[in-house]
Amino acid sequence: MKCRKCGGAAALELRRHNAAFCSPHFLEFFRKQVAEAVHRHQMFTRDEKIMVAVSGGKDSLALWDVLVEDGYQTAGLYLDLGIFDYSKESKAKCEAFAASRGLTLHIERVAEAVGAPIPVVQQATRRPTCSACGLSKRYLMNRAALQHGYPVVATGHNLDDEAATLFGSVMHWQTDALPRQSPALASTHPKLVRRVKPLYRLSELETAAFAFLRGIDYIVEECPFAKGATSIAHKQVLDRLEEASPGSKHNFLFGFLEKARPAFEKIEHVELLECTSCGQVTTGAVCAFCKLADLVKRRTS
Ligand code: AMP
Ligand code: FES
Ligand code: ZN
Ligand code: ZN
Repeated sequence: MKCRKCGGAAALELRRHNAAFCSPHFLEFFRKQVAEAVHRHQMFTRDEKIMVAVSGGKDSLALWDVLVEDGYQTAGLYLDLGIFDYSKESKAKCEAFAASRGLTLHIERVAEAVGAPIPVVQQATRRPTCSACGLSKRYLMNRAALQHGYPVVATGHNLDDEAATLFGSVMHWQTDALPRQSPALASTHPKLVRRVKPLYRLSELETAAFAFLRGIDYIVEECPFAKGATSIAHKQVLDRLEEASPGSKHNFLFGFLEKARPAFEKIEHVELLECTSCGQVTTGAVCAFCKLADLVKRRTS
């Protein structure tokens, strides 16, 4: 196998692109895909400060690395979920990454905001861990960005993540979720920051290869509250399709974004209000996060 760019020995084959690259040209390919995502969806400009939500995993640290190397103004945000050793180790990876490059890392403790760490929140809500966790993450990312003056939050969601989420929404015809599935969500209220996913064009394998080649030290273990059986099954189905027909995930996601998503986009006439308890944006009187914090307080006291 030879590198598509220089004809040298290839280090990596990308079947869906029908191409192979040597290490330097793979790094170049990767950075170009991020630049293309940023440009195509006007994610941010060089004058803006970007808050990169980092979990300590390969995707978000690879993203931070690309943006820093490209000269963007960034700071990291780590949300400490209080999930035993998993949180301690992933926090240490983010701190080491930031320290080695002289970058600012903001840290928010979920236990402080919700009243208890995620494992206790899960027991209190008696719902799948990931639902309370996901809600808390989205809320705290927005709140931290507002507090520290960042107009945009970037996350490390990759092509595999996005294709699996789309597959799940389509399987259950969650038509409300479809218009919100996008590499870039605009701000629809002064108290909502933009949310962008600059890695949506890159597969999980590619982000792992990038992190490895860049010598990024990341946490390999997944959260111990493994995602629900259904979402793992969705990823497996897509993996099998990809194996049989390289490019399936790409075609599924990109086809949706280009051809199908506009059909689900309706002008939403929901009125955005400010939560009477915390002031963040909500469609009701009290936001879902404050309701969660209240429930945790009642069930743990
Ligand atoms: P996940 O939902 O775990 O697949 O994570 C998707 C993205 O959300 C990651 O790539 C990060 O950008 C962000 N993220 C997940 N967990 C955290 C965390 N504990 N702190 C900050 N950002 C996170
Ligand atoms: Fe939220 Fe695992 S990261 S439950
Ligand atoms: Zn090459
Ligand atoms: Zn609230």
